[in-house]
Amino acid sequence: MSITLRIDEERVLHPIDPMIYGQFIEHFGRLVYGGLFDPGHPLSDEDGFRSDVLQALRALRVPVIRWPGGCFASAYHWKDGIGPVREPVYDKAWCVEEPNTFGTDEFMLLCRKLEAEPYLCTNAGTGTPEEMADWVEYCNEPRKGRWARARTRNGHERPWSVRYWSIGNENYTGGELGAKTVAEWGPYVRECAKMMRRVDPTIRLFAAAVPDLDWDLALLRSAGDLLDYISIHGYFDPCWQTGILSGYRKSLQAGAAFERDITRTESILRSLGLQDRVKIAFDEWNLRGWYHPGICDFSMLDPDHDHAASLREKAEDDSRYTMADAVFAATFLCTCMRHGDMVRMANFSPAVCGRGMIGVKDDTLVLRPTYHVFRLLRERLGDRLADSYFTDMETCDADSQDVPALDAAATLDSAGRSAICVIGRDPERSISLRIESRRPYHGARVYTICGGPDSCNTIEKPDTVTIRETRVSDLAYLTIPPCSVSVIVPEE
Ligand code: AHR
Repeated sequence: MSITLRIDEERVLHPIDPMIYGQFIEHFGRLVYGGLFDPGHPLSDEDGFRSDVLQALRALRVPVIRWPGGCFASAYHWKDGIGPVREPVYDKAWCVEEPNTFGTDEFMLLCRKLEAEPYLCTNAGTGTPEEMADWVEYCNEPRKGRWARARTRNGHERPWSVRYWSIGNENYTGGELGAKTVAEWGPYVRECAKMMRRVDPTIRLFAAAVPDLDWDLALLRSAGDLLDYISIHGYFDPCWQTGILSGYRKSLQAGAAFERDITRTESILRSLGLQDRVKIAFDEWNLRGWYHPGICDFSMLDPDHDHAASLREKAEDDSRYTMADAVFAATFLCTCMRHGDMVRMANFSPAVCGRGMIGVKDDTLVLRPTYHVFRLLRERLGDRLADSYFTDMETCDADSQDVPALDAAATLDSAGRSAICVIGRDPERSISLRIESRRPYHGARVYTICGGPDSCNTIEKPDTVTIRETRVSDLAYLTIPPCSVSVIVPEE
């Protein structure tokens, strides 16, 4: 049976914000120290950044990077990470020592090197609204004030001009340091926003939220007029404690779960009439929860903690990042495109090391399947969504649930040229696809990433999963391979 996808290039639904290809890094494991930033390493540049990692990230044209966390942010005092004297401190989020050698100015340098926008997550845990406003001053105030002067003394006279600022990170969870109640959060965010905007009224402000009516209504009623975004997070596989990853079929359930969270958050914003002014940032997402045994239940305090640290290495094992992650990443990005009127930013968590898309090794790096999905979609898809729909659909088994066997997003670039992302979810079957459009296309170039459900890239076999180009002469006869992500670029 052949499935039909109908495209109407004349019906542009909305723009696709390139910020959905954003990244996130946190002071955790080797994500920053040893992953991106490793002064003195033979592969590092004069500023201490791994040149090979930067090169790989540059190829993705990363639009925005969120930093310094995550949970780490809720006990991070930015003033410890600036200036000539950097004192190590105890990181109360991850129970390790933070050397503070990578701070605000190093992060800005990284963003400059990658031509990415910086997005700072403030400390709404152990920090204060004034500490947040001082950070805005340090980054954005040209001359006035102690912190603007400090920036100049530290060798950066020109302001860093940071547009994106989040008030807090997951302050709704009991595990977060300085967690707040529903009643506390809104008024607290309001006070933070007031003070930060007193320093720079042009900043774009985010606040930590969840797809939850009580939390979001209270937040938006208190501070909605001062916010530009609310941010939500998603990790499908709850493997924080065990490190046990769910299989390919189970991971196929993640797409719908994340779309439900987006739809729920949209409806809350719409219920308050805020949909045109306050947008959604999915500023941490991954199929897999990170691996940090013992943090949430405090068992890391037992003498076995070293063991736990060595187990953390498990997260660095490239063979664990497969086509399951790639198919999910493509599904998630297509979902953000479909909701592009509301979802204006998304940050893959994390960019490197751990559950990231780049495995950084001592003398090389591994580009994991998800990296190639970002590369393919970022490079080949357009920045506006065209109307498209399947006239029929087959399903595939997602471990006691059925999901559509195919997913798609039809895009156009500024010249009106189309490019269609098609995802083949079935782990075993190829699917015949017919693309119907009013335009007289003469075949297409097809860029495909595919493999078995457990296909991965490793140091030994770095290119098992990569982008392969083919050509078809007729859009009526396409074959979508199992476990695959394709971009079809029709030729007129
Ligand atoms: O597991 C990593 C953590 O996941 C991030 O620090 C936090 O923001 C999220 O809960």
